Parts: sequence; structure tokens; C-alpha cells
Amino acid sequence: MLSQIKKTVDNPNKSPDEKLGDICKYLANEIEVFDWVGFYLVDPEADEELVLGPYVGEETNHTRIPFGKGICGQAAETNETFVIQDVSKEDNYLACSLEVKAEIVVPVKKDGEFVAELDIDSHTKDSLTEEHRKMLEEVCSIISPLF
Ligand code: SME
Repeated sequence: MLSQIKKTVDNPNKSPDEKLGDICKYLANEIEVFDWVGFYLVDPEADEELVLGPYVGEETNHTRIPFGKGICGQAAETNETFVIQDVSKEDNYLACSLEVKAEIVVPVKKDGEFVAELDIDSHTKDSLTEEHRKMLEEVCSIISPLF
């Protein structure tokens, strides 16, 4: 799995955005419980705001998210991974679709600085494992050169 991600990052024929899109598709295809996979990027033009980047899955209204808002905004503010097994128990959560039950958000760091995040929604409660978390943290470290 990680070797495929490395290959995608090293592909000389694609732009960084295309590569991020390919990685979303790959993760969504490979892992059954990953139903929405996308990237939010720090908007350099805005003050502490995320902007939606490449993704696969249902369209979302949350194309811009201020730091601190929702799970995505909290991950941006703290530069830490968030694993939520049951979104209905969260107060600071932005709903994309009623089908979403669990969510993981993993920061992407460049030279230690938060630059983007990988956001994954699952339609299955309690479906996100420690292996998923470790694998996705590795993915986010491998893709850091794309930012
Ligand atoms: N649920 C996220 C919002 C983004 S959507 O999942 C695509 C949140 O609470 O930040």
C-alpha cells in the first residue's frame, strides 16, 4: 500500500493536485470502510482557513473551514490526528452527510509546519483502527514533498 503511494508521489508525469487525487482514489478503493477521502489545504491567502482540495466521494458544502471548527478545524489548530468513532457524540463537528458515522483527520506537515490534512469519512461506526491511523500517518509523511 505505502509503496503504491510512493510511486504516485514520484510519478514525473502528473501535477501535485493530480497525485493527491490519485491517492484519494487509491485509498477509497483499497479500504472498504473509507467512503469519502479528501484533502484540505491551508489557504495561504486567508487567515487560518482550510480550503478543500482533491477528494473522492459525495460533494460537500464544507469547501472552506476555519481553524478550530469541526474535526478538520481542530486537527488544523492542534496539528494532531483526530480519530472519531461516532460523530454523533461530537459537539464540534461539521456534518457532510447523515450517512457519515466515523471520521479520521491526519495532518500533513512540512518541516514540522501544518500545511494540509487528509480527511476520511466512514459510513460505519467504530470502523477506524489503530492500523488505519498508523498507515495514514505514514501516507501523510510520504506526501509531504507535494506541498
Ligand atoms: N466532518 C468534517 C467536515 C468535512 S467533511 O467530513 C468532508 C468536520 O467536522 O470537520
